Amino acid sequence: MKKMNICVVGCGYVGLVTGTCLAEIGHQVICIDNDPRKLQLLRKGKMPIYEPGLEPLLLKNSKAKRLSFAAHIADGMKNAEAVFIAVGTPPQADGSADLTFIETVAREIAQNLTRYTVVAEKSTVPVETGEQVERTINRYNKKRIPFDMVSNPEFLREGTAVEDFLHPDRIVIGVKTKRAELVMKELYGPLNAKILVTDVKSAELIKHASNSYLSTKISFINAVGRICELVGADVEKVAEGMGLDPRIGASFLRAGLGFGGFCFPKDLEAFHYISKKVGYDFDLLRAVKDINEQQRVHFVKKIEEALWIIKGKTIALFGLAFKPHTDDVRFAPAIDVIELLQAQGAKIKAYDPVATEKAASLIKNVHLCKSATEAAAGADCIALVTEWPEFKKLDWKRIKTKMQHPIIVDGRNYLNPAEMRTLGFEYRGMGR
Ligand code: UGA
Repeated sequence: MKKMNICVVGCGYVGLVTGTCLAEIGHQVICIDNDPRKLQLLRKGKMPIYEPGLEPLLLKNSKAKRLSFAAHIADGMKNAEAVFIAVGTPPQADGSADLTFIETVAREIAQNLTRYTVVAEKSTVPVETGEQVERTINRYNKKRIPFDMVSNPEFLREGTAVEDFLHPDRIVIGVKTKRAELVMKELYGPLNAKILVTDVKSAELIKHASNSYLSTKISFINAVGRICELVGADVEKVAEGMGLDPRIGASFLRAGLGFGGFCFPKDLEAFHYISKKVGYDFDLLRAVKDINEQQRVHFVKKIEEALWIIKGKTIALFGLAFKPHTDDVRFAPAIDVIELLQAQGAKIKAYDPVATEKAASLIKNVHLCKSATEAAAGADCIALVTEWPEFKKLDWKRIKTKMQHPIIVDGRNYLNPAEMRTLGFEYRGMGR
């Protein structure tokens, strides 16, 4: 294996996992970030994000001097054979992705090219961004140093990102030249993974299309769940039956509160926006979004059905993160649920094993608790929002004695309804 010099621009979620894992497979990596506080943390081996398994790898590779952190792109690009752009592409009010950071980085890369370099776009971007980045680099590349633009979308899931990086289903590289293809193949060689080589635009589309397809699957099963409720069927059984067909597959058919996080909602919007911009209104995506938003409202209606009047009642929210094994609360269903309940005058107590700190800045007037039992004490109803494994292992008998009324509305169909009912809880799930 050839050890390569790599620069990763952006120490957010994607950049940090990419940089650390590329060092882990033997490359020499410099990660760049312009936030001095973040750099200070990282240089001490501390994590600005919660991601299982990342911290020990970061420490190990920093100690082995394969991984370091710097503030300026110039420091990372001195000997770099490949530079990854992994800066944020946040959503704007109209749903489009804000590509300002990408443009700034493209300019700086152009000004710091010293040798042939592969410039790989790792951030999730709309189709045709690669073209714009290439044009920008050409404009600022005064010394006309050769480079190749590559699209290399990431498919990491929060919570299992390290595992996903080191054992990917596929690596997609969109290239224009054989030279760039060889560099990328060499770089990922140690992973022995399936590599799909495409043109740049197809690679960009693979990312948006994959996330939007998975979101569609979730909204589809949630819509089926609504029909199940109306006719007295069980969505869990329907999903099981559908998933046994290998053409459909069992994954991403878990009904409940719907999808959240910083990827699916924003990518869905951005894909819809760009489809219209290039001349096709991909209207299905609007329905996917609407169904997803309705699931939050429907969940709150279930709480209302159970309690009749929500005003003045205390609701214990179990889970704040948008899914388990992450502290990420961006676009989390919990945030919408809290707002909807508060609008009806509910008092909210909430517990999450890791996301409480991050949630604190996004929510107001919520009593944040140190344990599930503390949150349940005195509550009229438990609203299970995130399926954290520890919720399965709780001492539910004890919790029941602490509650005002033993009611559970399970937004993730996570608990066993029969067991909860045997324990004396009034239990309501989603789609059954
Ligand atoms: C997602 C994709 O799965 C990754 O492949 C992709 O790289 C990433 O976005 C990204 O674009 O960066 P992530 O957002 O970490 O990863 O989370 P997922 O595990 O995919 O879950 C997304 C949401 O869907 C969660 O809120 C989860 O609760 C919900 N979900 C998932 C369901 O409601 N039902 C399901 O059956 C599956």
